[in-house]
Amino acid sequence: MRPRVHFLLGLFSLMTPLLWAISFPEDDVPIETVDYHFSKQYPVFRGRPTGNESLHRLDFQLMTKIQDTLFIAGRDQVYLVSLRETYRNEIIPYRKLTWRSGQADRETCAMKGKRREECHNFIKVLVPRNEDLVFICGTNGFNPMCRYYRLDNLEFDGEEISGLARCPFDAKQTNVALFADGKLYSATVADFLASDAVIYRSMGDGSALRTIKYDSKWLKEPHFLHAVDYGNYVYFFFREIAMEHNNLGKAVYSRVARICKNDVGGSQRVLEKHWTSFMKARLNCSVPGESFFYFDVLQSITDIIDINGMPSVAGVFTTQMNSIPGSALCAFTMADIEKVFQGRFKEQKTPDSVWTAFPEDRLPRPRPGSCAGHGPAEAYKTSIDFPDETLLFIKSHPLMDSSVPSVRDEPWFTKTRVRYRLTALAVDNSAGPHQNYTVVFIGSEAGVLLKVLAKTSVFSLNESVLLEEIDVFNRAKCISNSEDDRRILSLHLDKETHSLFVAFSSCVVRVPLSRCERHSSCQKSCIASRDPYCAWMARGSCERVQPGVHVGYEQDVEYGNTARLGDCQGKTNVAMLPLTLFWFYTDLSFL
Ligand SMILES: *[C@@H]1O[C@H](CO)[C@@H](O)[C@H](O)[C@H]1NC(C)=O
Ligand SMILES: *[C@@H]1O[C@H](CO)[C@@H](O)[C@H](O)[C@H]1NC(C)=O
Ligand SMILES: *[C@@H]1O[C@H](CO)[C@@H](O)[C@H](O)[C@H]1NC(C)=O
Ligand SMILES: *[C@@H]1O[C@H](CO)[C@@H](O)[C@H](O)[C@H]1NC(C)=O
Repeated sequence: MRPRVHFLLGLFSLMTPLLWAISFPEDDVPIETVDYHFSKQYPVFRGRPTGNESLHRLDFQLMTKIQDTLFIAGRDQVYLVSLRETYRNEIIPYRKLTWRSGQADRETCAMKGKRREECHNFIKVLVPRNEDLVFICGTNGFNPMCRYYRLDNLEFDGEEISGLARCPFDAKQTNVALFADGKLYSATVADFLASDAVIYRSMGDGSALRTIKYDSKWLKEPHFLHAVDYGNYVYFFFREIAMEHNNLGKAVYSRVARICKNDVGGSQRVLEKHWTSFMKARLNCSVPGESFFYFDVLQSITDIIDINGMPSVAGVFTTQMNSIPGSALCAFTMADIEKVFQGRFKEQKTPDSVWTAFPEDRLPRPRPGSCAGHGPAEAYKTSIDFPDETLLFIKSHPLMDSSVPSVRDEPWFTKTRVRYRLTALAVDNSAGPHQNYTVVFIGSEAGVLLKVLAKTSVFSLNESVLLEEIDVFNRAKCISNSEDDRRILSLHLDKETHSLFVAFSSCVVRVPLSRCERHSSCQKSCIASRDPYCAWMARGSCERVQPGVHVGYEQDVEYGNTARLGDCQGKTNVAMLPLTLFWFYTDLSFL
């Protein structure tokens, strides 16, 4: 167990200025610190033509890889960047798609009281439909619209269709979308005032399905962060106001929700054209110990990846937005998520009573939330045939009683002594020459990128290791008018080119996954780096080691043991001074 220091935390309730004594873990000191003077060499993409310094903002919205190309979507534009090219100073897109809002949409937007900068077409959905087509939606000046574009020539294909319930009106809203079995699953807000939150399925055959409108038991001011197609289900990851939170004040909890892909809605009596299989559970990312602490605000989560042979997701979580900043990295296995969905439901008997577990023996049959034709609902052909009791139950009990435990019941990593929160992550689950290490890159609000060697099982590493802290924000090339401009919005890891694309609002920076050359000919600092990507080569230099190469080098990822190695003055250009941004809130004498 790491040493802990106690200090005070102002509880997030504005109504009750309660102070709680809690214990945060100490922060790790990074093995390497990479400052701006080093990182400014990395290529930058700004979404404006070279030489034109007129202040066109990229207004980054999302990036996604389709067939060896990184699609970077911003305001009115989507840029296509080849992942097979090397870039020196600037990242040059090989193609650009422009989709501006029409004059009429811009005028209506302004008439509704929006500022001119908000009345653009912010691209919020970009998902491949098949080999040939990509589906793109934009806010279109608060009148969301969608289009298909051909992947080969980027031409607009067919007709413009409504973006309602597929794309938010406002670029500030978070949303997700994906195609599964030819149908579009989208989670967003479906109105101008952003009050109608919805998980929606449309297109393909059959009628559209949705969550119940304005039912806070189903969704309460959600921020949708990710969706994945897995097995019989589509899973959604989000955070929302927790209705089951009994204490004073509002609290945000993180959720995973599940929907059967073969759901066709309920009967004419109950849940017609609504999900019959919508279930959700809390994700439990907490620090264990005598006074444990929750990181309840999900900021970003990965796809389902294999970790130690278990399909899992990893996410960054923070403290409540109006409390002291603190962040943690937690992982969850799909098996644990499934277990919670097979467990008990939560219920609130009257509007003011506390939430309790619903007794298993009183559950209607087939079990609410099941997929028709599978498991407990095997005898039912479609969800329309479910009995009223089952449908009525799931309609009023979408929340599971248990929360999903994180892997090993503790975060993989925490960061609690700095002013900033962590915001985004990308995972390499097969790092190193034996491809058996997990390296997690984590972005922050402050433009700092963390590289963490994660302890993923009880069999390796004593604890996670903070390998590098890299100041990535390029203040010379990216727009820096406010603190928000330094926020890392998204990360895309491309193993083949050994690079990480780091997105800010006004630019995208491409950072190599490792900087082995900084140790040049110093064996001691090379081994001490514990970086699974770097090794001391027989020829006397620190270099990147390729996956699958098992001889001719030295590396000590587990311990970084350099006891027998001599110092090497002047042989390395690494600044060994750790970045120490300790930020204590209180005087310990308070306790
Ligand atoms: C730069 O952009 C401005 C505004 O969009 C335009 O008027 C100008 O012609 C551009 N200059 C160059 C060199 O492309
Ligand atoms: C979350 O996990 C911790 C550690 O296992 C546990 O002590 C706590 O009770 C859990 N909280 C909830 C709400 O399930
Ligand atoms: C990875 O594989 C190498 C070589 O087999 C081994 O020495 C090392 O302990 C392994 N590490 C983990 C985390 O499994
Ligand atoms: C890791 O564990 C071993 C054995 O328990 C111990 O000797 C060593 O000091 C630990 N290393 C660290 C960095 O905690």
